[in-house]
Amino acid sequence: MTNDFSNKVALVTGAASGIGAAIATRLASEGAKIVLADRDAQGAGNVLNAIKQTGGEASIFEIDVADPLEVEAMVAFAEKTYGGLHLAVNNAGIGGPSAPTADYPLDGWHKVIDINLNSVFFCMKYELAAMVRAGGGSIVNMASILGSVGFSGSAAYVAAKHGVLGLTKAAAIEYAAHGIRVTAVGPGFIDTPLLSKTLDDAALKHIAGLHPIGRLGRSEEVAALTCFLLSEQASFITGSYHLVDGGYVAQ
Ligand code: NAI
Repeated sequence: MTNDFSNKVALVTGAASGIGAAIATRLASEGAKIVLADRDAQGAGNVLNAIKQTGGEASIFEIDVADPLEVEAMVAFAEKTYGGLHLAVNNAGIGGPSAPTADYPLDGWHKVIDINLNSVFFCMKYELAAMVRAGGGSIVNMASILGSVGFSGSAAYVAAKHGVLGLTKAAAIEYAAHGIRVTAVGPGFIDTPLLSKTLDDAALKHIAGLHPIGRLGRSEEVAALTCFLLSEQASFITGSYHLVDGGYVAQ
């Protein structure tokens, strides 16, 4: 299934790697002009080159999404560069430390909440205002299966992703009348650097086996759902949370 994003401007945070790179690449192939927002300028450069090689249009904005001033400047950059903002995917995130709650480090807690939760509020604050100016739009917030179930050793990540669902619902209700839809996606464990940088082969195999489908997900599978939710084909869908998890949460 392909979508038509001609004449649409899209912003993707965490676009230099993994899920964000797959979403940005697919959006560009379906006609959108993309702002690739990431703190990793080199990784974003690789995604930009791949998009340009296939005739797509994109620009890089180097950012720390945990800084509200930088987020405000990112949205202003999208409007200035392409004349407006219609689509946004708030996807940048980190895994954070692994420890039981009583031992969870305070600095790790603050970092994960800043990057995985506060940033989604900052992004939506400025994206929603820009989409009102553009006459409508669609936002997808990247949550996780851990937006609806717990996971040992990941208090901050689980709390942040549950919070992302709350922000999604609140904004969806407030902005439906402006023609702006806001949804959340809940991937199972996906084969990206976020996992492969921190887990060895045995741990990856164990985690893959936690999904009834019996493998890790692929970034392209998350991109397919995300782009559907951004598209006009999802015109009656808002405020909702959509799993792409190989059956993980059904157990
Ligand atoms: P990844 O590590 O491959 O990519 C994350 C990107 O976010 C990187 O390019 C990184 O530079 C960027 N980023 C991190 N912190 C940033 C900051 N402060 N400012 C700007 N950019 C920043 O990770 P992946 O797997 O693609 O994750 C993307 C999103 O999907 C995250 O929100 C993650 O929590 C979520 N997710 C990932 C799952 C997985 O198993 N890989 C499962 C469920 C959700």
